[in-house]
Amino acid sequence: MTYNIIIGRTESDRKKFGEKGTILIGRSYVKMGQTTTLSNYVYMDVIKSHVVLIVGKRGSGKSYSSSVITEGIIDLPDEISNNLSVIMLDTMGVFWTMKYPNEKDTGLLEQWGLKAKGLERIKIFTPIGMYEYSKSIGIPTDAPFSIKASELSGEDWRLAFELSSSHPVSILIDKILGDLADLRKEEFNVDDIINLIQKDNTFSNETKNEAINRFKASKGWGLFSNEGTKIEVLINRGAVSVLDMSAYATSSGGWGIKALVVGLISKKIFVERMLSRKLDEIESIRTGYSYFKIKEEVSEDKKPLIWFILDEAHELLPAIGKTAATDALVTILREGRQPGISLLLITQQPGKIHSDVLTQSDIVLAHRLTAKIDVEAFNSMMQSYLGDTLTSYLNILPADPGAAIVLDDNSERLYPIQVRPKVSWHGGESPTAIKFERSKNLGL
Ligand SMILES: Nc1ncnc2c1ncn2[C@@H]1O[C@H](COP(=O)(O)OP(=O)(O)O)[C@@H](O)[C@H]1O
Ligand SMILES: [Mg+2]
Repeated sequence: MTYNIIIGRTESDRKKFGEKGTILIGRSYVKMGQTTTLSNYVYMDVIKSHVVLIVGKRGSGKSYSSSVITEGIIDLPDEISNNLSVIMLDTMGVFWTMKYPNEKDTGLLEQWGLKAKGLERIKIFTPIGMYEYSKSIGIPTDAPFSIKASELSGEDWRLAFELSSSHPVSILIDKILGDLADLRKEEFNVDDIINLIQKDNTFSNETKNEAINRFKASKGWGLFSNEGTKIEVLINRGAVSVLDMSAYATSSGGWGIKALVVGLISKKIFVERMLSRKLDEIESIRTGYSYFKIKEEVSEDKKPLIWFILDEAHELLPAIGKTAATDALVTILREGRQPGISLLLITQQPGKIHSDVLTQSDIVLAHRLTAKIDVEAFNSMMQSYLGDTLTSYLNILPADPGAAIVLDDNSERLYPIQVRPKVSWHGGESPTAIKFERSKNLGL
């Protein structure tokens, strides 16, 4: 029997939990002479908090690998998956296809002993203003998603509007929000803000009009409602919530809006999990510490551990500059282990992502990279414990999509692997006129 590799799990946890609470992500490659074959199965721990970084050039398998991880979490035995929840921000509108079985890869799945299957425990959320439209064009969305204008800080607004802090409109926004606070108005909407701007007599008409135009435009984002979606609605036990933000893919300022939503969600899940963490502690004192005992005891107000998945993460958490998501994501990166929040960040440009991502990630899945700056960002990260360059490892990888190097900071080891095929349908494939059979011989 070949030895299974488990990444993200310490030796002592391996003794304690065995392979429980791990998911299959692929098989390691071994090179013998001229041939490369698949060898040991590679599993990943998902019951402890991790920061996972997936990098690679376009089409190398990043989104695919992130949904392999999502599938794995949802597919765990109920007693474990019920204590986990996945929230995915879908910037390209491709993850809803996970509702359907991966029938285009049946041959490949067979080689891995897997069967095509659509995910059942998946809920698609669409911004409230696009909800009916999305349904009308056949996207199987389940629920509208909205935020309250009163939840946004002055900084949130100006970052979403992509304004500097010294811009007159930014100063006006701070003043108006201050007025609302003085009025002790906790609930207000965009129209209330516009009304107050109109009444203001301390700013020039030019600044006021510019601000009013921006707030009017923000109503067109289709994101605000007086109620706002409660965070509890997004945190579902043993299930994945996909937030389809693809409507903003082409609009100018699209990333400002997406960062705003990610920032708000991140803050809320952090607060929720901090509260739940206290309940976890009380429980573990009572029952003796074990992740697998939690099942019978979950109280309604306790939230599951969260896996938060963000594609194109360098746009939300850039190396240079700040977005409305920066502060909240950096807090999760640095302190998320305590409250049990895992982050899975995907980027094709590790050279452009916030340096905390590189220093905080404990599991890295590196698909092929090409741009020099990205290879360099990566090499410098690896040298901290490997003393070798990434390029030499990447060179032994076959060119197939889904081939990757996994770096596991927990064991300080590195493995070349092939990520397993997905059981659910993968969206966002580049259109091709030729249908071809992908179940090539992988030496299985
Ligand atoms: N592990 C894998 N096994 C088989 N095919 C894969 C695998 N990973 C990626 N692919 C193929 O490569 C394509 C591109 O992958 P994708 O994850 O969408 O790329 P990107 O890195 O741009 O996010 C997929 O549509 C799929 O056909
Ligand atoms: Mg992708």
